[in-house]
Amino acid sequence: MTIKLMVLALYCKGSLAEITRELSVLVGNEVTLSCMFDTPHKLVEWSALSIEWNMVDKHAKKSMVYTLEDGRAHVYKEGSVVNETCLRQSDASLQLHNVTVGDEGLYTCRVINPLIYTESTALKVLALPSVLLPEKATVREGQEKTIQCDVTGFYPEKVAVTWLIQNGTQTIHAGLGQLSRVCNELAVHNPDGTYSIRSGITLHSSVLRGGEIHVICQVEHQTYNGLYNRSLHQSRFTVQPL
Ligand SMILES: *[C@@H]1O[C@H](CO)[C@@H](O)[C@H](O)[C@H]1NC(C)=O
Ligand SMILES: *[C@@H]1O[C@H](CO)[C@@H](O)[C@H](O)[C@H]1NC(C)=O
Ligand SMILES: *[C@@H]1O[C@H](CO)[C@@H](O)[C@H](O)[C@H]1NC(C)=O
Ligand SMILES: *[C@@H]1O[C@H](CO)[C@@H](O)[C@H](O)[C@H]1NC(C)=O
Repeated sequence: MTIKLMVLALYCKGSLAEITRELSVLVGNEVTLSCMFDTPHKLVEWSALSIEWNMVDKHAKKSMVYTLEDGRAHVYKEGSVVNETCLRQSDASLQLHNVTVGDEGLYTCRVINPLIYTESTALKVLALPSVLLPEKATVREGQEKTIQCDVTGFYPEKVAVTWLIQNGTQTIHAGLGQLSRVCNELAVHNPDGTYSIRSGITLHSSVLRGGEIHVICQVEHQTYNGLYNRSLHQSRFTVQPL
């Protein structure tokens, strides 16, 4: 009974090592997805080796990335590489070059050697937003002015755009009072898979009271980590007399 259990334990250890990890990469960068299998002999026997790399995207659609069978490699996905020198040393890691939003998904390698080994990586793709705000704006006395903040090319979709008004040492959140209105448009899905959003603030000239204020478009997105999780773009706002 004890021997039977031990054999079973060994069999499980050697045949199936399932690892799933998470990895994040910025659009346009390169990433390596690990697949380090065990070899019963020191060197990999080419004829006994079979490899399959597949990917399941966020719509649960499965596609083949790379296969090696009967000593022949087949690359299905452009820009993906399994280095053959490394492969002979039990490393079937997959390199992806110039990552795009469409590369996001669960990648799994399955090696038959003849032991079976699988390793998975959930790849998350991130794209940093670009924030554009006019540097200057003027409003006529007694009138209103709308300033647009364009936040483009980000991924994932979740983003928060808020406005701050700085008057001397005072900083207030805009859109709460009567002198300013904030309007956030719906996010647009770009052809490359990223998102863009536009936010506008409408200010009445009386918010200035003859002086000058700074209008700040504040963006919060997953790609801004720690200290850099928000981007402040300042706009100078002045009144033009009638
Ligand atoms: C494969 O990896 C080896 C060693 O890491 C490296 O010297 C070689 O340039 C790589 N080959 C390709 C085609 O990238
Ligand atoms: C990376 O991919 C994008 C989109 O597919 C393409 O426009 C760009 O030219 C590529 N860059 C390189 C260096 O291959
Ligand atoms: C800043 O706000 C205070 C009170 O809201 C106001 O009295 C002051 O004139 C403002 N300063 C400028 C430069 O707009
Ligand atoms: C954003 O950065 C500030 C420090 O500047 C930090 O206190 C805050 O927790 C960060 N928020 C997120 C969501 O990372």
